[in-house]
Amino acid sequence: MPIYIVLLGPPGAGKGTQAKVLAAEFGLPHISSGDIFRENIRTGTDMGKVAQTFISKGELVPDDVTIAMIQERFSRPDCVAGAILDGFPRTPAQADALDAMLKHFGGRVNLVPFITAPTEVLIERLAGRWTCRAAGHIFHERFNPPQKTGVCDIDGSELYQRDDDKAETVMHRIEVYREQTAPLIDYYKNRGILAEINGFAPIGDVSAHLMEVLKRQAEEE
Ligand code: AP5
Ligand code: MG
Repeated sequence: MPIYIVLLGPPGAGKGTQAKVLAAEFGLPHISSGDIFRENIRTGTDMGKVAQTFISKGELVPDDVTIAMIQERFSRPDCVAGAILDGFPRTPAQADALDAMLKHFGGRVNLVPFITAPTEVLIERLAGRWTCRAAGHIFHERFNPPQKTGVCDIDGSELYQRDDDKAETVMHRIEVYREQTAPLIDYYKNRGILAEINGFAPIGDVSAHLMEVLKRQAEEE
């Protein structure tokens, strides 16, 4: 049976950081809607141009654009065995669309780890985040510093600060999360597949907690 895991949580909670750990551990693709948008912006595709106008303001990209993009990603064969989804779905309409897509593989959303941390921690994390240009590897100037300033430890590429990590945009992203994405907490809780994870702990402790929850879930299935 394929395994599909959806990481839910506010900006800066650690979704991307933990998605990379889980993807490596389970040998599954890491599908980050934000990373796919940023790659399209970098290469100047039409979709990237549309997405940029929303991302730069901290708004969600419209559902039709986002769902079509994820549908395209799911058309690739590596998603058949499962995936770690990071940043998608983010609205109830996207969650419904995801269910329909997974049905096609004979799968469903198996578990939704909901990672949280206090707002002031989220802001501090995003202000100090450095992201790798080549593959989106994630660092923090204090909490997870690269060995060499400005250089990715994993692939040697340049580290940059995301445009949407400016303080005022971060505040708006958090508001948008509360209004448009937080309803998914109850959506998945009602299905009995939400697992609350305290994201305000060292990165390794959060990963250990996630692995424990995932193993327990696998045993129950
Ligand atoms: P996206 O790229 O998904 O951004 P986000 O959801 O705002 O989340 P972040 O990537 O900012 O945070 P994260 O939880 O991944 O944290 P990270 O691991 O990096 O989306 C960007 C934009 O694209 C959206 O605003 C929207 O416009 C658009 N978009 C994307 N998906 C969309 C969708 N489905 N629908 C519509 N629009 C969409 O960690 C943050 C920092 O903290 C790092 O520096 C890290 O090193 C550090 N850190 C992580 N964990 C810890 C820890 N435990 N302790 C200390 N530091 C930690
Ligand atoms: Mg992320």
